[in-house]
Amino acid sequence: MPSRAPPQEHKATARTHEPRRIPVASPGHQRRHTLPASEFRSLTPEDAISVFEIEREAFILVSGECPLHLDEVRHFLSVCAELSLGWFEEGRLVAFIIGSLWDQEKLSTEALTLHKPQGTTVHIHVLAVHRTFRQQGKGSILMWRYLQYLRSLPYVRRAVLMCEDFLVPFYQKLGFNVQGPSEVTVGPLTFIEMQYAVRGHAFVRRYSGC
Ligand SMILES: CC(C)(COP(=O)(O)OP(=O)(O)OC[C@H]1O[C@@H](n2cnc3c(N)ncnc32)[C@H](O)[C@@H]1OP(=O)(O)O)[C@@H](O)C(=O)NCCC(=O)NCCS
Repeated sequence: MPSRAPPQEHKATARTHEPRRIPVASPGHQRRHTLPASEFRSLTPEDAISVFEIEREAFILVSGECPLHLDEVRHFLSVCAELSLGWFEEGRLVAFIIGSLWDQEKLSTEALTLHKPQGTTVHIHVLAVHRTFRQQGKGSILMWRYLQYLRSLPYVRRAVLMCEDFLVPFYQKLGFNVQGPSEVTVGPLTFIEMQYAVRGHAFVRRYSGC
């Protein structure tokens, strides 16, 4: 989940007009429009701005870069929204994960911008929690729910991510194992690649035809 400079290729096209949800009031029914205290759901391209606001504070103001630029957020939420998960408090996005599929053992620079529909590896591009909601367990809970959800997707064998050294213990507590240094670097930044086994040997047998 590195911060990096905008890619020169594979750039997603930004949408300028997103459909708006317009609440419909049915005559004779005075419904209270209370938003749920907590809601977990896949993100949509309409959530891209909220995602990017969290990224801006979490990454751009810190290092000048972020794991996914706005057009890339929109792209992934258009092509593989089912691999995202948002945590909303009273309708407001407070934490999110964005993933896509990857089809090789190790992550490469290409993995940062591509979704490979035939892949069996979920590449977790970014986990971020809104500043005011950090250190409350939300990042851990959201990742735990996401990993449980991945178990329900029959085509997923494992989940991988890249993180800086200081977050290795955080992901280890969630069940990720260190795979070694990532071949992806961003300027002076280096990353550790980590893996979570969603399925074991049964998956390999079934999908290798043995
Ligand atoms: C990293 C992040 C997702 C963790 O979410 P969170 O809800 O704050 O974390 P939780 O409350 O579930 O867990 C707290 C644990 O996270 C780890 N952690 C969080 N931020 C950390 C940091 N900056 N350095 C080291 N460990 C950190 C620690 O292990 C901490 O436990 P401790 O307080 O006992 O030391 C969140 O802090 C965040 O969004 N940070 C900015 C974006 C980011 O760096 N994302 C990850 C890389 S893409």
